[in-house]
Amino acid sequence: IERTLSIIKPDATRRNLTGKINAKFEDAGLRIVAQKRIHLTPAQAGIFYEVHKERPFYGELCDFMASEPVVVQVLEGEGAIAKNREVMGATNPADAAAGTVRAEFAESVGENSVHGSDAPETAAAEIAYFFSGLELVG
Ligand code: GTP
Ligand code: MG
Repeated sequence: IERTLSIIKPDATRRNLTGKINAKFEDAGLRIVAQKRIHLTPAQAGIFYEVHKERPFYGELCDFMASEPVVVQVLEGEGAIAKNREVMGATNPADAAAGTVRAEFAESVGENSVHGSDAPETAAAEIAYFFSGLELVG
């Protein structure tokens, strides 16, 4: 059974969309085995998104992620990484399939409501960045 790190981003927490987004995850068979609401500092967001530090939108992305609270969570299920990304939809909401989180809720390519890990190695590192083993209740 696989686990992935999910973040409900500031544009979505601001609009009280946490419950609607969680319903989509749960309907897809993903179990929320850990969850907390936190307010990242720009430096903490910068470490999380370090892989993107050479991209032109890095500063904007870090400022956005630190602008308001986020909900970080661990989702568990068969093929959880791919399944979560399917439920999320494409990065740019204009390209996201109907019914996905980003098609329904994302405001732009930057403020796109959710993050999901993209591979087993990144999932493990991202989960460890936010949660201790004791906080994961499967
Ligand atoms: P994550 O699950 O958040 O990692 O999204 P992703 O894997 O679909 O996209 P990617 O890893 O390529 O980009 C990470 C995040 O950077 C995106 O989710 C966006 O929030 C942001 N981002 C990507 N492209 C752009 C862009 O062109 N402009 C801005 N402002 N932000 C972008
Ligand atoms: Mg990504």
